[in-house]
Amino acid sequence: MKYFIVTFGCQMNVHDSEKIAGILENLGYKCGQNREEADIIVFNTCAIREGAEDRVFGNVGALKKQKKINPNLIIVVCGCMTQKASTAQYMKETFPFVDIVIGTHNVPNLASYIMKVKAKQQKRMLELWEEGEIDESLPYSRSSGDNAWVNIMQGCNNFCTYCIVPYVRGREKSREKENILNEIKQLVLTGKYKKITLLGQNVNSYGKDLSPSVSFAKLLKDICAIEGDFTISFMTSHPKDLTDEVIETIAVEDKIEKYIHLPAQSGDNRILHLMNRKYTRETYLEIIRKIRERVPNCRITSDFIVGFPTESEEEFLHTMSLVEEVRFDSIFAFMYSPRENTVAAKMDGQITEEVKNERVNKLLALNKKIQMEDGKK
Ligand code: 5AD
Ligand code: SF4
Repeated sequence: MKYFIVTFGCQMNVHDSEKIAGILENLGYKCGQNREEADIIVFNTCAIREGAEDRVFGNVGALKKQKKINPNLIIVVCGCMTQKASTAQYMKETFPFVDIVIGTHNVPNLASYIMKVKAKQQKRMLELWEEGEIDESLPYSRSSGDNAWVNIMQGCNNFCTYCIVPYVRGREKSREKENILNEIKQLVLTGKYKKITLLGQNVNSYGKDLSPSVSFAKLLKDICAIEGDFTISFMTSHPKDLTDEVIETIAVEDKIEKYIHLPAQSGDNRILHLMNRKYTRETYLEIIRKIRERVPNCRITSDFIVGFPTESEEEFLHTMSLVEEVRFDSIFAFMYSPRENTVAAKMDGQITEEVKNERVNKLLALNKKIQMEDGKK
């Protein structure tokens, strides 16, 4: 019996797929090479932009034929996209050959859903819990070479007005520090992993919800104290929560990679305010200055969204000038995509696709020019 997992979206999803692989291997499945030879296919989906969702619909739709040839094939769709009740329902109705549709919080129960479908107790199912506790018991089947992803928290409390993540991943919940340290000790002991990458939507607010609370800097220091030959990196950082103590820790701890991904999203203060980012262009630049002062060799990358509702040409040029001023090692630039239920999707002044396209191309061209000039690519 073989499984095949198709993962869309971010590193968090890649790591979730390692958990799904662990669950399937516990059930006796082995990792297959392609969809054609699989007895169970899992789509771990992403909802961050419309384009990501369209790709999922296309991929799932293409399985209709395979299911006809092999009616015992089990098809599972899970992840951020199907955590939205309306999309999950649509998925179930439009693709009657999909067996299991579940949300992000249902993964711990995947084994029991599969058993029910196999035993024909329940033909098809749709399960969407609202929130889930962090699961410490399920095994991961790791597949990222010598890099091990380690989740330190789930969810996000920020509600940036364009972003669907808080709706599909729930509120911030940090893992207990001891559980994280034990996991990393075990990973290092295997001798297989040279790089530990800590994952969270907003790692800098790690531990605020624990009692007693623990700072992200303290977590980093304790991980660095683990004996062994490994490096540590982390993502993603929110500029509003990146403390001086974290910058100092990056500066002094040899094990921490000198790299920060610090999404700015826009270089314009009115747009940043509308995005609910809680920092200004000036405070963002101040953080960059501090990083460069304390960690001179630090690589810095960023994310930007162009064409946020009401963004004028002049405001877009403020994003261009921020990129010019910081000279990032690299940036990701995205066209704003309205997401269901988010505040920005309901705003007046949505920008046309044509203008968004023009702006994203200009920003990416600027990034390329800077990289060439600085010899970064
Ligand atoms: N439209 C476009 N880009 C988005 N991102 C998040 N939500 C949206 C959206 N609705 C981008 C942000 C974030 C990255 C992971 O995806 O730049 O940092
Ligand atoms: Fe989305 Fe903002 Fe949370 Fe990042 S910090 S996941 S952009 S709401």
